[in-house]
Amino acid sequence: MAENIYPIYDKMMSREEREQQLGQHGMMVWFTGLSGSGKSTVALGVERELAKRGVLCRILDGDNIRAGINSNLGFSEEDRMENIRRIAEIGKLFVQTGIVTLACFVSPTEEIRQLARTIIGDEDFNEVFVSTPLEECERRDVKGLYARARRGEVKDFTGISAPFEAPKNPAISIDTSVLPLEESVNRVVDMIMAIAKKGK
Ligand code: ADX
Repeated sequence: MAENIYPIYDKMMSREEREQQLGQHGMMVWFTGLSGSGKSTVALGVERELAKRGVLCRILDGDNIRAGINSNLGFSEEDRMENIRRIAEIGKLFVQTGIVTLACFVSPTEEIRQLARTIIGDEDFNEVFVSTPLEECERRDVKGLYARARRGEVKDFTGISAPFEAPKNPAISIDTSVLPLEESVNRVVDMIMAIAKKGK
């Protein structure tokens, strides 16, 4: 029971101490977009670039989280909320350790992304909309899921039989059908480096 947990937070190393130790500012970079839009590909590029600059970062993505901690969850609205709630709680621990955290999840609705923002904290939450259009994601169909969804074999598939609401006010938008990968990566890295230097 939560009320029986003896609080040790005030004895633990503070976020400020962590950030000083690491010489960086922790933050959440939250990628949202359709399946196949390029969220993970861009995040992988960002991770490489940050490593070159000596910035410690960590990617959390749909495929690894859903295979592990969230393996009991599906794609109903309720399960997606719980998926994102757990991810946001985990992400918050990373951010508060001073780590630049890159979360790549479809997170298809305003309500779901608002939940993540509330848990992580507005100050630390930087939304990147990977706005690659459905037609392009479906054309790529990296995992063959769009074809299966069109045949009715995958239910509640985002963009086909479940909604995707575009974010209203993302920090940046990236359409990987028109931007070269390097340019998409650079835009995110520039945003991160600007925040890392002076805070939001
Ligand atoms: S979220 O909606 O809860 O944020 P998440 O990002 O974790 O989704 O997982 C999305 C990934 O799961 C997709 O990239 C795709 O590979 C796979 N997937 C399997 N079924 C579905 C579905 N019904 N809707 C969306 N993605 C699905």
